[in-house]
Amino acid sequence: MSQAKKDLSPKQREELLRQATKVMQHAHAPYSNFRVGAAILTAKGEIFSGCNVENASYGMTNCAERTAIFSAVAQSGPGLEILAVAVVNDHGVPCSPCGACRQVIYEFGPEAMVFYQGKNGPKESHITELLPEGFRLK
Ligand code: THU
Repeated sequence: MSQAKKDLSPKQREELLRQATKVMQHAHAPYSNFRVGAAILTAKGEIFSGCNVENASYGMTNCAERTAIFSAVAQSGPGLEILAVAVVNDHGVPCSPCGACRQVIYEFGPEAMVFYQGKNGPKESHITELLPEGFRLK
């Protein structure tokens, strides 16, 4: 079992989901109408959140997970260590982090647990289950 999974209390998980749901209301999603919220728990015990921000040039869209992570780095500096990530959407449908977000989560949280809506309800996966062989330069 991963360190993060052992250490995350039900209260912390609840708070992560609560903050992800709250920030989801801020999503800029006029093209997909699919609002997503994400929250990350850091090794320092802080929580940062983010929503998806779409663009008329669709490819410029930023997912909720990356918004949360980039916001954490902007606010706290580059020493970010992610213990857990929660993702929610306003359709209540299965939604795990996309491939790009998995790689960004892995950069700062190679042992992170990810909480999301799976096909059969709420699910939690270690980041390396979602992204085997994640890329690292060193
Ligand atoms: N999206 C996220 O923000 N996170 C995910 O995990 C999956 C997809 C966003 C991107 C886009 O704004 C909308 O959902 C539809 O793809």
